[in-house]
Amino acid sequence: SADAAPYVPEGADWAALRSASCGCRGCELYKGASQTVFGEGPVPARLMMVGEQPGDREDVEGHVFVGPAGRLLDKALGAVGIDRSQAYLTNAVKHFKFTERGKRRIHQQPRRGEVVACFPWLREEIRVVNPRLIVVLGAVAAKALLGASFTLTAHRGEVLEQDGLRIGVTVHPSAVLRAENRDEAYEALVADLKALQKSL
Ligand code: URA
Ligand code: SF4
Repeated sequence: SADAAPYVPEGADWAALRSASCGCRGCELYKGASQTVFGEGPVPARLMMVGEQPGDREDVEGHVFVGPAGRLLDKALGAVGIDRSQAYLTNAVKHFKFTERGKRRIHQQPRRGEVVACFPWLREEIRVVNPRLIVVLGAVAAKALLGASFTLTAHRGEVLEQDGLRIGVTVHPSAVLRAENRDEAYEALVADLKALQKSL
């Protein structure tokens, strides 16, 4: 099946990877989205954070975590004393997946096949960023790195080792925004980040 591999200049530097990602047609998602949203931040970086996919704002602006979920993430990072600009931020999938409802574009979770198709980009980002710790935000990112059977709720706040990578686990900031008790969900995210920070 199709994936990003033919589009990925392996061994290239970050700038060349990002520019090549703009032409990726490794799965169907490029067709509906406005643009590829590649990861951003310092290269190398001690901390890398991996979300799910760009949202509506990210798709329009071409930058990661610039919408409501990004603002919440910034606030949670600030609460534990991490400046967002210290971290390399990216997503498991580089194109926005959505359905249209009138004028609104509603986020749709990527399928496993789309996450797998996009993985060659994430793998190369990990190579160039060479982080001490990768924090996965939510189940989609966690499964991209830890396998399809990984259960997030059993491991939040933990650091796991896989393929020589150290992977810290927490929820997605969008899950906090959707939570019935938003304050409690936010405090739990901050508590996870505080625990994970010890492994930085
Ligand atoms: N949600 C994500 O997972 N990533 C973004 O970049 C924005 C929202
Ligand atoms: Fe390529 Fe990933 Fe976009 Fe699919 S989602 S076209 S694999 S960059």
